[in-house]
Amino acid sequence: MSESYSAPPNPPLPSPITGSIDPSPGLPQRWLVQVCQHRSCLRNRSDEVLIAFRDHQSPQILVAASGCMGQCSSGPTVHILPDDTWYCRLHPEDVAVIVEQHFGQGQPVAAYLHPRFHHS
Ligand code: FES
Repeated sequence: MSESYSAPPNPPLPSPITGSIDPSPGLPQRWLVQVCQHRSCLRNRSDEVLIAFRDHQSPQILVAASGCMGQCSSGPTVHILPDDTWYCRLHPEDVAVIVEQHFGQGQPVAAYLHPRFHHS
């Protein structure tokens, strides 16, 4: 039996992306959230994490399903650009605070940072 998995297609980007972009001073105009949808992360509910981020999708917050990002033992893995932040072991319930604190105030949520990339 094959265990191949195809990530669900990403929804179309909001179109046109104009007008409402008004980030706080000093914050990126747009965030890209990559949520792993490969096997190990899926076993830990990364599909629900993806849905939770998509609930907050906007012209400023773009959300994409991704393939394996090489952090399988600590999934669900989420990578944020442009500030190259890695989150690990996220639960869907964790997403709201990331949206508010990280994207709204520019403060990554320390409790969920991946220790392989972010040392305290
Ligand atoms: S399966 Fe998600 S990082 Fe590898």
